[in-house]
Amino acid sequence: MKRIGVLTSGGDAPGMNAAVRAVVRTARHRGIEVMGIMRGYHGMIHNEVELMGARSVSNIIQHGGTIIKSARSKEFRNKSGRAKAIRTLREHGIDGLVLIGGDGTFTGAIKLLKEWDGKAVGVPGTIDNDLYGTDFTLGFDTAVNTALESIDKIRDTADAHERTFLVEVMGRQAGFIALEAAVAGGAEMALIPETRTTVKQVADRLARDKELGKTSSIIVVAEGDEQGGVVDIARQLRQQFQMDTRICVLGHIQRGGAPTAADRLLGSRLGAFAVELLCKGKSGVMAGEVNHKPIAVPFEHAIKRTKPIDKDLLRIADILAT
Ligand code: F6P
Repeated sequence: MKRIGVLTSGGDAPGMNAAVRAVVRTARHRGIEVMGIMRGYHGMIHNEVELMGARSVSNIIQHGGTIIKSARSKEFRNKSGRAKAIRTLREHGIDGLVLIGGDGTFTGAIKLLKEWDGKAVGVPGTIDNDLYGTDFTLGFDTAVNTALESIDKIRDTADAHERTFLVEVMGRQAGFIALEAAVAGGAEMALIPETRTTVKQVADRLARDKELGKTSSIIVVAEGDEQGGVVDIARQLRQQFQMDTRICVLGHIQRGGAPTAADRLLGSRLGAFAVELLCKGKSGVMAGEVNHKPIAVPFEHAIKRTKPIDKDLLRIADILAT
């Protein structure tokens, strides 16, 4: 392997810069050149490629976002788009790729590997933590801490006015951020797509909490919860149960900001590991970590298998909120 490409794709995640830095420096340490492919697969299609030296990744480990930008490319889903991308890779003599992203990124990689003769290794980068085969994905820890900071602030005003707040956090198909932020923030409930909770159950719980002497409540709602968003849940609580609530949608705030130490370390370890896997001739796998041990997970497993929610945390969440 003489020259590899690195890209970040899909929703950006704090820690992606640490991973890019680790890829560039590990590859150079092994005498491999690194090309930064800008804007994910979009840049691969449109030939937006730059040589990255060791100094090009100085002073980035502490920043959120990604210096090589990110995008969601519709064009790459078509064979014609991928054919253009392959032309770019051949033109630059790129024979290996490190792809930092989530399920969309790895779905694209599976297709690419069927049509291109190079090798590709992934690094799990998504705040949602919804990739199977790795305990954590880049950005998850930072996103939970960002959500937590807001929940703590909301708790102050909820307490002062003796109100109930519905706080919506990110997680299109998964409740990992919601559950961890809820438990760490002492929330009364977490509504997540992995478990079904009806609006009536929420109302009953709020009524019970009032009887138990609680004067304020926080309910954390994952954006992918089957009851809909917080606007809808608040409306149902008002119309069907005459319960007054306030809502807060945290949104993209959770995707930005300085990565936590955990995300910088994860990005550093997995970026380096991804290059080592490529050097060993591995391809079609995601560089993950289970119990702090590096592990290569086939792309198909990472995206098609469902990562289970922590049942024990779910159980104690309920007990601790009484
Ligand atoms: O996949 C990460 C994520 O932040 C999800 O939690 C969220 O649903 C989605 O991306 C939002 O994507 P976009 O920024 O493209 O609207």
